[in-house]
Amino acid sequence: MSGIAHGSIHAPSELIPCVNAFHPPSQVFTGAMSQQASPGKSLDIDQIRADTPGCSQVIHLNNAGSALPPSIVVKSMIDHLRLEEQIGGYEALQRENARFEQIYRSIATFLNTQPGNIALTQSATEGWDRAFSAIAFTHTFTSDARMLVSSSEYASNVLPMMQIAAHTGASLEFIPDNAEGITDLNALESMLDSRVRIVAINHCPSQNGLINDVTGIGALLKHKGSQAWYLVDACQSVGQLPVDAPAIGADFISATGRKFLRGPRGTGFLYCSDRAVTELEPFPIDLHSGRWTPTGYELREGAARFESWEKPYAALLGLGAAVDYALNLGIDAIAERIGMLASYTRQQIKSVPGASLLDRGKNLSGIVTFTDAKVAPHDIVARLRESGVHVSLGTADYSQVDYLAHGIESLIRVSPHVFNTNEEIDSMAKAVQSLVR
Ligand SMILES: Cc1ncc(COP(=O)(O)O)c(C=O)c1O
Repeated sequence: MSGIAHGSIHAPSELIPCVNAFHPPSQVFTGAMSQQASPGKSLDIDQIRADTPGCSQVIHLNNAGSALPPSIVVKSMIDHLRLEEQIGGYEALQRENARFEQIYRSIATFLNTQPGNIALTQSATEGWDRAFSAIAFTHTFTSDARMLVSSSEYASNVLPMMQIAAHTGASLEFIPDNAEGITDLNALESMLDSRVRIVAINHCPSQNGLINDVTGIGALLKHKGSQAWYLVDACQSVGQLPVDAPAIGADFISATGRKFLRGPRGTGFLYCSDRAVTELEPFPIDLHSGRWTPTGYELREGAARFESWEKPYAALLGLGAAVDYALNLGIDAIAERIGMLASYTRQQIKSVPGASLLDRGKNLSGIVTFTDAKVAPHDIVARLRESGVHVSLGTADYSQVDYLAHGIESLIRVSPHVFNTNEEIDSMAKAVQSLVR
């Protein structure tokens, strides 16, 4: 926290009461798990694996990091790069413009919204920053302003809020979790007042399987008549769970392409509500998000005012192909399959002596994290990778408040996707077992 001269940032010890105490896995491992997860009814797993060349190379259980893409995603990118190579970048875009416009429609369908509410970005963080900077620019923050944030929030979302707090005297406050371990709606309700400028919630954090009730929070803010800007980080939920923008009622929803959506790196998008588009002025604008007129400037219509002029078109066409692929499988079938594989993973990890699952909440996402009593997470992740089994390492740098409140410095994350199989999970669990023996 050094370097923060002004503003109040309420440390976890002040704001996260003991009801947040870590729940041992036995208390949260809910639901009758079948010994073997069976594939989601409507999914053809053999076809999905055939569509995913990486399946024949590695056991990839790091889809919350960056998923294995289906080959159509890579083909879409390469085709466009080849066209750029042959006729030039601007000319390639002109020729492929209809496909490019379709990306907005596909994402809008995925989120149950309109194409004009979607801005294309290069990451979830870029989308988040565009939203946050528009709020900070439109409503100059003063020392009485308050920003309320979920305790499991991702570092890159919190850091700009810390900057604003440091430079304006505004306060950044972490919302306590309930006994179940997710954002407490009652606590949030008691914190709301007219000074709350921002409520920022992550749908699914990257460091455990909790799922925050973002729809309930949206309904609460509406019911209380709150004027706060409601930002939802759906980076880890888009592509693995249904994300319905109107039902959530957020002003902004940020997402990335490379995780559960199975799109390319360097892509993302930002959902912007009609209120956000009409009441906020993005800063800074460029000649795409705004227009230089003879008398000054004007803002572009729709969510495109949150975009930049230059874009990685080949990668974005890959993103569009990934969204279409997911739409074709159906998000309910995807969620069901990931849920079954994650349950099976939890069951297998539970059977490893010394391993502790880090789950919280009644409803769990496809992100399974654990620690081991003897071997450090870093060593387990590195040894598994050497043997072609991909899981990932999480450290407190990604979400200080959540890790520290639960006494965790680092963890191992296993995140299956539809193309994974029970046999792959068995291999991973067996490898962990032999490492920690
Ligand atoms: C919960 C969450 N939010 C935001 C981000 C940032 O996403 P990006 O790297 O695309 O900006 C991540 C990345 O891991 C994440 O897990």
